[in-house]
Amino acid sequence: MTVIKSVYENQIDIINSIMHLCGIDRFDVDVTYGNGMFYKKIEEPVHKFDLDGDLPGVTQSSSDDLPLGDESIFSMMFDPPFLTYVRAARTGNGNMVMAKRFAGYWRYDELEAHYRGTIKEAHRVLSKKGIMVIKCQDIIHNHKMHPTHINIVSDWANGLFRLKDMFILPAKHRMPSPNRKGTQKHARIFHSYFLVLEKI
Ligand SMILES: C[S@@+](CC[C@H](N)C(=O)[O-])C[C@H]1O[C@@H](n2cnc3c(N)ncnc32)[C@H](O)[C@@H]1O
Repeated sequence: MTVIKSVYENQIDIINSIMHLCGIDRFDVDVTYGNGMFYKKIEEPVHKFDLDGDLPGVTQSSSDDLPLGDESIFSMMFDPPFLTYVRAARTGNGNMVMAKRFAGYWRYDELEAHYRGTIKEAHRVLSKKGIMVIKCQDIIHNHKMHPTHINIVSDWANGLFRLKDMFILPAKHRMPSPNRKGTQKHARIFHSYFLVLEKI
């Protein structure tokens, strides 16, 4: 039997591993569906939601206010924007490719409010021991390290979810750089996380 590892070069391998370990055949909901890149080789989720209302086949909905009943689903995927200093969704920062593709927040406290609100909403809609998967990345903003994956586990999801598993995805391509100019002060972040949270 192949052993499942905590690091894969490919996010599909990570998602497949999570599904296998959690007994999920198909995600009940993806609340930040985007272009559906996660589902190129696996079955689409039952519910596809995103704040962006222009995406075909996707219901417009904010991940912190879902059109789902209390304890009505078992599994949720959440892959929110992770960048700060990004003005407005897909139309923002004209020449910034990552910003256009993934959207973002202006300040870190806006990111925190969105993540906290969605974690709370996930706790409402997930059934007992339900699974919330969060893809996230730490960032450096204004010369300060914001360890998002630690903040989620130790603070934002504290008391609502426990960390069941954690996967690391090394970047294939160049990640967005916090360095505008001058001497480098921080290691360039070159990986993201898939946190597997189980509802308490
Ligand atoms: C990193 S992308 C998701 C990429 C997606 N996993 C894919 O495979 O294409 C982040 C997505 O979150 C959406 N988003 C941003 N704020 C949101 C909110 N409050 N509620 C729901 N979706 C939101 C953006 O429109 C964007 O599609």
